[in-house]
Amino acid sequence: MTKLEIILQDKEQSKKFSQAISQELKLGDVLALYGELGAGKTFFTQNLCSYLNVKDYVNSPSYVLMNEYYGDFNIYHLDLYRLNDSEEVLELGLEELIPQGLTIIEWPEIAEDFLPKETIKIYFSYFEDCRKAIIHSRESIIESIKKILPL
Ligand SMILES: Nc1ncnc2c1ncn2[C@@H]1O[C@H](COP(=O)(O)OP(=O)(O)OP(=O)(O)O)[C@@H](O)[C@H]1O
Ligand SMILES: [Mg+2]
Repeated sequence: MTKLEIILQDKEQSKKFSQAISQELKLGDVLALYGELGAGKTFFTQNLCSYLNVKDYVNSPSYVLMNEYYGDFNIYHLDLYRLNDSEEVLELGLEELIPQGLTIIEWPEIAEDFLPKETIKIYFSYFEDCRKAIIHSRESIIESIKKILPL
């Protein structure tokens, strides 16, 4: 795993960040998105899905736990904010789901023990009036980000 820290100066840069990652994703990938309320997890997911040719409206699945979209992959978009018991995570059947598409998880802390070790982890935070992202992922994704976003 390689780590990269990047300042996303504005929404346009945040979109490019999603675009760069979208180009390197493959079936079975899991993206775990960390960060406080409003840090940019759903915004990232919306843009990522649009680059993956999802036509549906992408929104936070906080109440339903999971939304499913169709684009270049089946996309499983989860928000685990409301879960407080890892038993409930088991009930989601992540192990079955993951190989069938692309899994994106907001508030993944409670599912930490169930995530594959190759999980792409992105930590979003506020930085002045913009955002910062720290990503841990395979090298190809980091290279793609460096190509699209000047550091
Ligand atoms: N680089 C940026 N600079 C400034 N604002 C940004 C940047 N990127 C995204 N935003 C804005 O930050 C907000 C992020 O909200 P979003 O709903 O994605 O947060 P979230 O992390 O999903 O929060 P929650 O935990 O409530 O689901 C959006 O309003 C978006 O327009
Ligand atoms: Mg959200």
